[in-house]
Amino acid sequence: MQTKKVTLILIAGGTASGKTTVADRIANEILKGKSVTHISMDNYYKDFGDLTLEERRKINFDHPNSVDTELLLNDLNALKDYQPIKMFVYDFKTSSRTNETITVKPSDVVILDGIFALAIKEIRKLGNIKIFIKTANDLRFIRRLQRDVNERGRSLESVIDQYLNEVKPMHDAFIGPSIEYADLIIPYKEGNDVAVDLVATKILSLVGNKNDN
Ligand code: C5P
Repeated sequence: MQTKKVTLILIAGGTASGKTTVADRIANEILKGKSVTHISMDNYYKDFGDLTLEERRKINFDHPNSVDTELLLNDLNALKDYQPIKMFVYDFKTSSRTNETITVKPSDVVILDGIFALAIKEIRKLGNIKIFIKTANDLRFIRRLQRDVNERGRSLESVIDQYLNEVKPMHDAFIGPSIEYADLIIPYKEGNDVAVDLVATKILSLVGNKNDN
């Protein structure tokens, strides 16, 4: 029996850098009609459901230790073996896992996006195409502030406090330096279609040939 070869595309970058937008474009426009799945590392934060909300808010979610790497590796390996997975849905308002799960079907191309996609060695090693989205820090902060206040139930003060004490120092220590592992770097800005299209050509050439051997 011939086993199918699954291509794993990793999309890393700092918080609010536009990773999800690029991943969605690759999945829904560039690879449209192909067998492709997009999952987010956001769903792989450790649960911490036994702590109070106040205690959970003190956790440093910008340190790689906050990720359930074991579960993520299991799921990625299952998808690479063409097996379906049941993925937990994460709730940023309560900083915990919900009881809801999503069944992710196996596919020829799997896209994983997340701030630690290239920073955690075991995950990085599984990637076939490694992309880093490089976005100016001030733009990322503005985008993050708007998103966290509007969508993640945070106050202005808490976003600023978290950014200065955790997000920025952890970005400088772990996420920013992981750019060196990227095969491709996209300088993301609004409407920057050229870079994404160039990346798309590369991905299509790799994905197009992947079952030939
Ligand atoms: O979507 P994005 O890549 O920005 O998600 C990563 C960010 O989510 C991290 O910078 C982390 O500070 C934040 N986060 C949070 N609360 C959680 C889990 C993650 O603010 N409970």
